[in-house]
Amino acid sequence: MLETMRIKPFQKRYTVPGDKSISHRAVLFGAIAKGKTYIDGFLHGEDCLSTVSCLRQLGVDIQMENESSLVIYGQGVEGLQSPLKPLDVGNSGTTIRLMLGILAGTKVSAVLVGDDSIARRPMSRVVEPLRLMGAQIEGREHGRFTPLTVQGSRLSGTHYNSPIASAQVKSALLLAGLQAEGKTVIRETIHSRNHTEMMLPGFGVEVITNGLEVMVPGKQSLIGTHVKVPGDLSSAAFLWAAALMVPGSRMTVEDVGINPTRTGILDVFVQMGATVEIEQTGVWCNEPIGNVTVYGDDLKGVEIGGTLIPRLIDEIPILAVIAAQANGRTIIRDASELKVKETNRITTTVMELQKIGVNISETEDGMVIEGGNEIQGGMCSSHGDHRIGMALAIAGLAARDGVRVNGAEAIKVSFPSFESIITQLSV
Ligand code: S3P
Repeated sequence: MLETMRIKPFQKRYTVPGDKSISHRAVLFGAIAKGKTYIDGFLHGEDCLSTVSCLRQLGVDIQMENESSLVIYGQGVEGLQSPLKPLDVGNSGTTIRLMLGILAGTKVSAVLVGDDSIARRPMSRVVEPLRLMGAQIEGREHGRFTPLTVQGSRLSGTHYNSPIASAQVKSALLLAGLQAEGKTVIRETIHSRNHTEMMLPGFGVEVITNGLEVMVPGKQSLIGTHVKVPGDLSSAAFLWAAALMVPGSRMTVEDVGINPTRTGILDVFVQMGATVEIEQTGVWCNEPIGNVTVYGDDLKGVEIGGTLIPRLIDEIPILAVIAAQANGRTIIRDASELKVKETNRITTTVMELQKIGVNISETEDGMVIEGGNEIQGGMCSSHGDHRIGMALAIAGLAARDGVRVNGAEAIKVSFPSFESIITQLSV
Protein backbone atom coordinates (compact mmCIF):
# COMPACT_ATOMS: atom_id res chain seq x y z
CA MET A 1 0.00 0.00 0.00
CA LEU A 2 1.15 3.55 -0.72
CA GLU A 3 -0.04 6.43 1.41
CA THR A 4 0.22 10.09 0.40
CA MET A 5 -0.86 13.21 2.29
CA ARG A 6 -1.16 16.93 1.81
CA ILE A 7 2.24 18.56 1.52
CA LYS A 8 3.59 22.12 1.55
CA PRO A 9 4.58 23.86 -1.68
CA PHE A 10 7.92 22.65 -3.09
CA GLN A 11 10.40 23.58 -5.80
CA LYS A 12 12.23 20.54 -7.18
CA ARG A 13 14.28 19.26 -10.12
CA TYR A 14 14.40 15.60 -11.04
CA THR A 15 15.31 13.25 -13.83
CA VAL A 16 12.90 10.37 -14.45
CA PRO A 17 13.70 6.81 -15.62
CA GLY A 18 14.01 6.05 -19.33
CA ASP A 19 11.07 6.17 -21.70
CA LYS A 20 9.15 2.88 -21.67
CA SER A 21 8.19 2.89 -25.37
CA ILE A 22 11.74 3.76 -26.45
CA SER A 23 13.37 1.23 -24.07
CA HIS A 24 11.23 -1.61 -25.47
CA ARG A 25 12.11 -0.66 -29.02
CA ALA A 26 15.84 -0.27 -28.33
CA VAL A 27 16.16 -3.77 -26.88
CA LEU A 28 13.86 -5.40 -29.46
CA PHE A 29 15.68 -3.80 -32.40
CA GLY A 30 19.09 -4.57 -30.87
CA ALA A 31 18.01 -8.20 -30.55
CA ILE A 32 17.24 -8.55 -34.26
CA ALA A 33 20.23 -6.48 -35.40
CA LYS A 34 23.62 -7.89 -36.34
CA GLY A 35 26.41 -6.78 -34.03
CA LYS A 36 26.51 -5.06 -30.67
CA THR A 37 23.87 -2.60 -29.49
CA TYR A 38 24.55 -0.47 -26.42
CA ILE A 39 21.60 1.05 -24.57
CA ASP A 40 21.99 3.80 -21.98
CA GLY A 41 19.10 5.05 -19.89
CA PHE A 42 17.14 1.79 -20.29
CA LEU A 43 14.01 1.68 -18.12
CA HIS A 44 14.57 -0.99 -15.46
CA GLY A 45 10.82 -1.40 -14.99
CA GLU A 46 8.88 -4.65 -15.07
CA ASP A 47 7.45 -4.18 -18.58
CA CYS A 48 10.83 -3.65 -20.22
CA LEU A 49 12.34 -6.49 -18.17
CA SER A 50 9.60 -8.74 -19.62
CA THR A 51 10.85 -7.82 -23.09
CA VAL A 52 14.42 -8.67 -22.05
CA SER A 53 13.43 -12.03 -20.59
CA CYS A 54 11.39 -13.00 -23.70
CA LEU A 55 14.34 -12.10 -25.93
CA ARG A 56 16.72 -14.15 -23.79
CA GLN A 57 14.36 -17.13 -24.15
CA LEU A 58 14.66 -16.62 -27.91
CA GLY A 59 18.42 -17.10 -27.53
CA VAL A 60 19.52 -13.44 -27.57
CA ASP A 61 22.58 -12.62 -25.45
CA ILE A 62 21.73 -9.51 -23.39
CA GLN A 63 24.14 -8.34 -20.69
CA MET A 64 23.19 -5.77 -18.05
CA GLU A 65 26.20 -3.57 -17.26
CA ASN A 66 24.12 -1.88 -14.58
CA GLU A 67 20.41 -1.15 -14.04
CA SER A 68 20.13 1.21 -17.00
CA SER A 69 22.92 0.11 -19.36
CA LEU A 70 22.62 -2.95 -21.55
CA VAL A 71 24.70 -4.57 -24.24
CA ILE A 72 23.00 -6.83 -26.76
CA TYR A 73 25.07 -9.20 -28.87
CA GLY A 74 22.70 -9.37 -31.81
CA GLN A 75 22.85 -12.14 -34.43
CA GLY A 76 20.10 -10.86 -36.70
CA VAL A 77 16.60 -12.36 -37.01
CA GLU A 78 18.23 -15.57 -38.26
CA GLY A 79 19.84 -15.95 -34.84
CA LEU A 80 16.50 -16.22 -33.01
CA GLN A 81 15.66 -19.72 -31.72
CA SER A 82 12.33 -21.29 -30.86
CA PRO A 83 11.85 -21.05 -27.09
CA LEU A 84 11.33 -24.21 -25.06
CA LYS A 85 8.64 -22.60 -22.91
CA PRO A 86 5.91 -20.00 -23.53
CA LEU A 87 7.15 -16.41 -23.71
CA ASP A 88 5.60 -14.53 -20.79
CA VAL A 89 5.10 -10.82 -21.58
CA GLY A 90 3.77 -10.11 -18.08
CA ASN A 91 1.66 -6.92 -18.14
CA SER A 92 3.19 -5.50 -21.32
CA GLY A 93 1.06 -4.82 -24.39
CA THR A 94 4.00 -3.29 -26.26
CA THR A 95 6.07 -6.47 -25.75
CA ILE A 96 3.46 -8.87 -27.10
CA ARG A 97 2.34 -6.76 -30.05
CA LEU A 98 5.82 -5.81 -31.27
CA MET A 99 7.07 -9.35 -30.63
CA LEU A 100 4.30 -10.76 -32.86
CA GLY A 101 5.45 -8.43 -35.64
CA ILE A 102 9.04 -9.61 -35.26
CA LEU A 103 8.35 -13.35 -34.93
CA ALA A 104 5.80 -13.52 -37.77
CA GLY A 105 8.49 -13.50 -40.47
CA THR A 106 11.18 -15.62 -38.76
CA LYS A 107 11.74 -19.38 -38.58
CA VAL A 108 10.72 -19.40 -34.93
CA SER A 109 7.64 -21.01 -33.45
CA ALA A 110 6.55 -19.69 -30.07
CA VAL A 111 3.65 -19.44 -27.65
CA LEU A 112 2.96 -16.02 -26.12
CA VAL A 113 1.17 -15.51 -22.83
CA GLY A 114 0.83 -12.72 -20.28
CA ASP A 115 -0.92 -11.81 -17.04
CA ASP A 116 -4.68 -11.50 -16.44
CA SER A 117 -4.72 -7.97 -17.87
CA ILE A 118 -3.00 -9.07 -21.10
CA ALA A 119 -5.49 -11.94 -21.38
CA ARG A 120 -8.30 -9.37 -21.66
CA ARG A 121 -6.61 -7.04 -24.14
CA PRO A 122 -7.44 -7.26 -27.88
CA MET A 123 -4.79 -8.88 -30.04
CA SER A 124 -6.82 -8.99 -33.28
CA ARG A 125 -5.68 -5.44 -34.06
CA VAL A 126 -2.22 -6.89 -34.84
CA VAL A 127 -3.10 -10.52 -35.59
CA GLU A 128 -5.51 -9.67 -38.44
CA PRO A 129 -3.25 -7.34 -40.45
CA LEU A 130 -0.27 -9.65 -39.85
CA ARG A 131 -2.33 -12.53 -41.26
CA LEU A 132 -2.96 -10.41 -44.37
CA MET A 133 0.82 -10.42 -44.80
CA GLY A 134 0.89 -14.23 -44.53
CA ALA A 135 1.55 -14.62 -40.81
CA GLN A 136 0.50 -17.85 -39.14
CA ILE A 137 -0.90 -16.89 -35.77
CA GLU A 138 -3.50 -18.86 -33.83
CA GLY A 139 -4.93 -18.44 -30.39
CA ARG A 140 -7.90 -18.25 -28.05
CA GLU A 141 -11.11 -17.10 -29.78
CA HIS A 142 -9.49 -17.39 -33.25
CA GLY A 143 -6.46 -15.39 -32.17
CA ARG A 144 -8.31 -12.50 -30.62
CA PHE A 145 -6.74 -13.14 -27.21
CA THR A 146 -3.77 -14.82 -25.51
CA PRO A 147 -2.47 -17.49 -25.37
CA LEU A 148 -1.25 -16.99 -28.94
CA THR A 149 0.91 -19.28 -31.06
CA VAL A 150 3.01 -17.93 -33.86
CA GLN A 151 4.65 -20.11 -36.44
CA GLY A 152 7.09 -17.94 -38.40
CA SER A 153 6.50 -17.95 -42.17
CA ARG A 154 7.26 -16.04 -45.38
CA LEU A 155 5.52 -12.69 -45.47
CA SER A 156 4.58 -10.31 -48.24
CA GLY A 157 4.39 -6.55 -47.87
CA THR A 158 1.00 -4.91 -47.49
CA HIS A 159 -0.80 -1.60 -47.72
CA TYR A 160 -2.79 -1.29 -44.52
CA ASN A 161 -5.18 1.47 -43.47
CA SER A 162 -5.12 1.28 -39.69
CA PRO A 163 -8.54 2.07 -38.23
CA ILE A 164 -7.05 2.96 -34.82
CA ALA A 165 -4.29 5.39 -33.90
CA SER A 166 -2.03 2.76 -32.34
CA ALA A 167 1.75 2.85 -32.37
CA GLN A 168 1.81 -0.78 -31.28
CA VAL A 169 -0.12 -1.81 -34.40
CA LYS A 170 1.95 0.43 -36.67
CA SER A 171 5.21 -0.84 -35.15
CA ALA A 172 4.25 -4.53 -35.35
CA LEU A 173 3.47 -4.15 -39.05
CA LEU A 174 6.63 -2.17 -39.80
CA LEU A 175 8.74 -4.82 -38.05
CA ALA A 176 7.02 -7.59 -40.01
CA GLY A 177 7.45 -5.48 -43.16
CA LEU A 178 11.24 -5.42 -42.71
CA GLN A 179 11.31 -9.18 -43.29
CA ALA A 180 8.59 -9.30 -45.96
CA GLU A 181 8.86 -9.48 -49.74
CA GLY A 182 8.07 -6.04 -51.20
CA LYS A 183 7.17 -2.85 -49.40
CA THR A 184 4.81 -2.32 -46.47
CA VAL A 185 2.78 0.87 -46.15
CA ILE A 186 0.73 1.79 -43.08
CA ARG A 187 -1.70 4.66 -43.13
CA GLU A 188 -3.20 6.05 -39.93
CA THR A 189 -6.19 8.35 -39.51
CA ILE A 190 -4.49 10.22 -36.64
CA HIS A 191 -0.75 10.27 -35.87
CA SER A 192 0.28 7.84 -33.14
CA ARG A 193 3.67 8.04 -31.38
CA ASN A 194 6.48 7.66 -33.90
CA HIS A 195 9.39 6.20 -31.88
CA THR A 196 9.75 3.18 -34.19
CA GLU A 197 10.15 5.40 -37.26
CA MET A 198 12.58 7.64 -35.36
CA MET A 199 14.77 4.78 -34.12
CA LEU A 200 14.96 2.36 -37.06
CA PRO A 201 17.18 4.60 -39.26
CA GLY A 202 19.79 4.51 -36.46
CA PHE A 203 19.90 0.72 -37.01
CA GLY A 204 20.59 1.34 -40.72
CA VAL A 205 17.02 0.79 -41.91
CA GLU A 206 15.19 2.81 -44.55
CA VAL A 207 11.83 4.20 -43.36
CA ILE A 208 9.89 6.79 -45.35
CA THR A 209 7.24 8.91 -43.64
CA ASN A 210 4.82 10.95 -45.69
CA GLY A 211 2.14 12.65 -43.60
CA LEU A 212 -0.02 9.93 -42.09
CA GLU A 213 1.71 7.21 -44.12
CA VAL A 214 4.82 5.24 -43.18
CA MET A 215 6.59 2.91 -45.63
CA VAL A 216 9.38 0.37 -45.23
CA PRO A 217 10.93 -1.54 -48.12
CA GLY A 218 11.11 -5.29 -47.35
CA LYS A 219 14.09 -7.59 -46.81
CA GLN A 220 16.08 -5.14 -44.71
CA SER A 221 18.44 -6.09 -41.94
CA LEU A 222 19.44 -4.06 -38.91
CA ILE A 223 22.95 -3.20 -37.76
CA GLY A 224 23.74 -2.76 -34.06
CA THR A 225 24.09 0.77 -32.76
CA HIS A 226 24.18 2.92 -29.62
CA VAL A 227 20.84 4.14 -28.19
CA LYS A 228 20.50 6.76 -25.47
CA VAL A 229 16.98 6.71 -24.01
CA PRO A 230 15.35 10.03 -22.99
CA GLY A 231 13.48 10.33 -19.68
CA ASP A 232 9.86 9.19 -19.94
CA LEU A 233 7.46 12.10 -20.43
CA SER A 234 4.62 9.85 -19.27
CA SER A 235 6.41 9.40 -15.90
CA ALA A 236 7.37 13.09 -15.73
CA ALA A 237 3.67 13.95 -16.14
CA PHE A 238 3.00 12.66 -12.60
CA LEU A 239 5.69 14.94 -11.16
CA TRP A 240 4.44 18.00 -13.05
CA ALA A 241 0.95 17.11 -11.87
CA ALA A 242 2.22 17.06 -8.26
CA ALA A 243 3.32 20.69 -8.71
CA LEU A 244 -0.09 21.63 -10.10
CA MET A 245 -1.91 19.88 -7.24
CA VAL A 246 0.06 21.79 -4.59
CA PRO A 247 -0.31 25.48 -5.51
CA GLY A 248 2.86 27.53 -5.16
CA SER A 249 5.02 24.56 -6.27
CA ARG A 250 7.30 24.27 -9.25
CA MET A 251 8.67 21.11 -10.87
CA THR A 252 11.46 20.79 -13.41
CA VAL A 253 12.14 17.47 -15.11
CA GLU A 254 15.51 17.28 -16.86
CA ASP A 255 16.51 15.30 -19.96
CA VAL A 256 12.94 14.28 -20.66
CA GLY A 257 11.74 13.26 -24.13
CA ILE A 258 9.69 15.99 -25.81
CA ASN A 259 8.76 14.21 -29.03
CA PRO A 260 5.67 16.13 -30.29
CA THR A 261 3.71 12.88 -30.67
CA ARG A 262 3.87 12.63 -26.85
CA THR A 263 3.56 16.19 -25.53
CA GLY A 264 -0.23 16.61 -25.61
CA ILE A 265 -0.37 16.86 -21.81
CA LEU A 266 1.91 19.92 -21.86
CA ASP A 267 -0.47 21.61 -24.33
CA VAL A 268 -3.36 20.86 -21.99
CA PHE A 269 -1.49 22.26 -18.97
CA VAL A 270 -1.16 25.54 -20.89
CA GLN A 271 -4.84 25.43 -21.89
CA MET A 272 -5.71 25.03 -18.18
CA GLY A 273 -3.75 28.18 -17.36
CA ALA A 274 -0.47 26.65 -16.11
CA THR A 275 2.97 27.88 -17.14
CA VAL A 276 5.11 25.40 -19.08
CA GLU A 277 8.72 26.29 -19.86
CA ILE A 278 10.44 24.00 -22.36
CA GLU A 279 14.17 24.31 -22.91
CA GLN A 280 15.28 21.88 -25.63
CA THR A 281 18.78 20.72 -24.73
CA GLY A 282 19.52 18.12 -27.39
CA VAL A 283 18.46 15.31 -29.69
CA TRP A 284 19.18 11.72 -28.65
CA CYS A 285 18.82 9.15 -31.44
CA ASN A 286 16.40 11.37 -33.38
CA GLU A 287 14.34 12.13 -30.24
CA PRO A 288 14.26 15.73 -28.95
CA ILE A 289 14.98 16.07 -25.22
CA GLY A 290 14.85 18.99 -22.85
CA ASN A 291 14.29 20.39 -19.37
CA VAL A 292 10.63 21.13 -18.74
CA THR A 293 9.33 23.25 -15.86
CA VAL A 294 5.66 23.36 -14.89
CA TYR A 295 3.88 25.56 -12.35
CA GLY A 296 0.56 27.32 -11.95
CA ASP A 297 -2.36 28.11 -9.68
CA ASP A 298 -6.05 28.69 -10.30
CA LEU A 299 -6.31 26.24 -13.16
CA LYS A 300 -9.51 26.02 -15.19
CA GLY A 301 -11.34 23.06 -16.72
CA VAL A 302 -10.89 22.18 -20.41
CA GLU A 303 -12.60 20.24 -23.19
CA ILE A 304 -10.36 17.85 -25.08
CA GLY A 305 -10.76 15.30 -27.87
CA GLY A 306 -9.86 14.52 -31.49
CA THR A 307 -6.26 14.41 -32.69
CA LEU A 308 -4.95 15.48 -29.28
CA ILE A 309 -6.02 12.19 -27.64
CA PRO A 310 -3.28 9.87 -28.99
CA ARG A 311 -0.72 12.53 -27.95
CA LEU A 312 -1.75 12.15 -24.28
CA ILE A 313 -3.56 8.81 -24.11
CA ASP A 314 -1.44 7.51 -21.21
CA GLU A 315 -1.84 10.80 -19.28
CA ILE A 316 -5.65 10.80 -19.06
CA PRO A 317 -5.86 9.28 -15.55
CA ILE A 318 -3.54 11.96 -14.14
CA LEU A 319 -5.29 14.65 -16.17
CA ALA A 320 -8.55 13.66 -14.47
CA VAL A 321 -6.88 14.23 -11.10
CA ILE A 322 -5.67 17.71 -12.07
CA ALA A 323 -9.11 18.48 -13.50
CA ALA A 324 -10.63 17.67 -10.09
CA GLN A 325 -8.61 20.52 -8.63
CA ALA A 326 -9.20 22.94 -11.55
CA ASN A 327 -12.18 25.30 -11.49
CA GLY A 328 -15.14 24.30 -13.65
CA ARG A 329 -15.94 21.35 -15.87
CA THR A 330 -13.47 19.20 -17.82
CA ILE A 331 -14.79 17.03 -20.65
CA ILE A 332 -12.65 14.28 -22.21
CA ARG A 333 -14.00 12.84 -25.49
CA ASP A 334 -12.83 10.43 -28.21
CA ALA A 335 -10.89 8.35 -25.69
CA SER A 336 -12.48 4.88 -26.12
CA GLU A 337 -9.00 3.39 -26.53
CA LEU A 338 -8.68 3.81 -22.75
CA LYS A 339 -11.04 0.86 -22.38
CA VAL A 340 -8.38 -1.54 -23.73
CA LYS A 341 -5.37 -0.40 -21.73
CA GLU A 342 -3.92 -2.26 -18.70
CA THR A 343 -7.39 -1.81 -17.20
CA ASN A 344 -10.49 -0.13 -18.61
CA ARG A 345 -9.06 3.25 -17.64
CA ILE A 346 -12.35 5.10 -18.10
CA THR A 347 -14.00 2.86 -15.53
CA THR A 348 -11.06 2.55 -13.13
CA THR A 349 -10.27 6.29 -13.15
CA VAL A 350 -13.91 7.25 -12.56
CA MET A 351 -14.61 4.55 -9.96
CA GLU A 352 -11.51 5.25 -7.86
CA LEU A 353 -11.72 9.04 -8.03
CA GLN A 354 -15.38 8.83 -6.96
CA LYS A 355 -14.24 6.80 -3.94
CA ILE A 356 -12.02 9.69 -2.78
CA GLY A 357 -14.75 12.26 -3.28
CA VAL A 358 -14.19 13.60 -6.80
CA ASN A 359 -17.27 14.59 -8.81
CA ILE A 360 -16.54 12.57 -11.97
CA SER A 361 -18.70 10.52 -14.30
CA GLU A 362 -18.17 8.09 -17.13
CA THR A 363 -19.31 8.78 -20.70
CA GLU A 364 -19.37 6.55 -23.79
CA ASP A 365 -15.89 7.65 -24.92
CA GLY A 366 -14.39 9.48 -21.97
CA MET A 367 -15.36 11.25 -18.75
CA VAL A 368 -16.65 14.48 -17.27
CA ILE A 369 -15.09 16.03 -14.16
CA GLU A 370 -16.69 18.84 -12.14
CA GLY A 371 -13.63 20.44 -10.60
CA GLY A 372 -12.88 22.96 -7.92
CA ASN A 373 -14.09 21.09 -4.80
CA GLU A 374 -11.78 19.81 -2.11
CA ILE A 375 -10.73 16.17 -2.66
CA GLN A 376 -11.70 14.25 0.49
CA GLY A 377 -9.36 11.28 0.15
CA GLY A 378 -9.51 7.77 1.65
CA MET A 379 -8.86 4.23 0.54
CA CYS A 380 -8.68 3.30 -3.17
CA SER A 381 -7.12 0.76 -5.52
CA SER A 382 -4.78 0.73 -8.53
CA HIS A 383 -6.63 -2.32 -9.93
CA GLY A 384 -3.12 -3.55 -10.76
CA ASP A 385 -2.66 -0.65 -13.22
CA HIS A 386 0.54 1.40 -12.74
CA ARG A 387 -0.84 4.67 -14.09
CA ILE A 388 -4.04 4.45 -12.02
CA GLY A 389 -1.93 3.81 -8.90
CA MET A 390 0.30 6.84 -9.55
CA ALA A 391 -2.63 9.13 -10.42
CA LEU A 392 -4.35 8.27 -7.12
CA ALA A 393 -1.16 8.79 -5.12
CA ILE A 394 -0.80 12.28 -6.65
CA ALA A 395 -4.45 13.05 -5.78
CA GLY A 396 -3.48 12.34 -2.15
CA LEU A 397 -1.06 15.31 -2.18
CA ALA A 398 -4.10 17.60 -2.22
CA ALA A 399 -6.66 15.47 -0.37
CA ARG A 400 -8.08 16.52 3.01
CA ASP A 401 -7.56 13.07 4.58
CA GLY A 402 -4.74 11.82 2.34
CA VAL A 403 -5.03 8.79 0.07
CA ARG A 404 -4.13 5.13 0.63
CA VAL A 405 -3.58 3.20 -2.61
CA ASN A 406 -3.89 -0.57 -2.56
CA GLY A 407 -2.02 -2.49 -5.23
CA ALA A 408 0.70 0.16 -5.48
CA GLU A 409 3.30 -2.47 -6.40
CA ALA A 410 1.97 -2.19 -9.99
CA ILE A 411 3.84 1.13 -10.22
CA LYS A 412 7.07 -0.85 -10.76
CA VAL A 413 5.84 -1.56 -14.29
CA SER A 414 6.94 1.87 -15.53
CA PHE A 415 8.30 4.09 -12.71
CA PRO A 416 10.15 2.09 -10.02
CA SER A 417 11.47 5.25 -8.26
CA PHE A 418 8.04 6.94 -8.09
CA GLU A 419 7.43 6.27 -4.40
CA SER A 420 10.85 7.50 -3.28
CA ILE A 421 10.49 10.72 -5.31
CA ILE A 422 6.98 11.41 -3.98
CA THR A 423 8.17 10.87 -0.42
CA GLN A 424 11.02 13.37 -0.96
CA LEU A 425 8.70 16.11 -2.21
CA SER A 426 7.77 17.18 1.30
CA VAL A 427 11.37 17.16 2.59
C1 S3P B 1 2.74 2.37 -26.79
C2 S3P B 1 1.67 2.82 -27.50
C3 S3P B 1 0.40 3.20 -26.90
C4 S3P B 1 0.55 3.49 -25.41
C5 S3P B 1 1.34 2.45 -24.70
C6 S3P B 1 2.73 2.32 -25.32
C7 S3P B 1 3.95 1.97 -27.52
O1 S3P B 1 -0.52 2.15 -27.04
O2 S3P B 1 -0.70 3.64 -24.80
O3 S3P B 1 1.51 2.78 -23.33
O4 S3P B 1 5.02 1.79 -26.90
O5 S3P B 1 3.88 1.80 -28.74
P1 S3P B 1 -1.32 1.90 -28.43
O6 S3P B 1 -0.39 1.65 -29.50
O7 S3P B 1 -2.20 0.69 -28.13
O8 S3P B 1 -2.13 3.14 -28.62
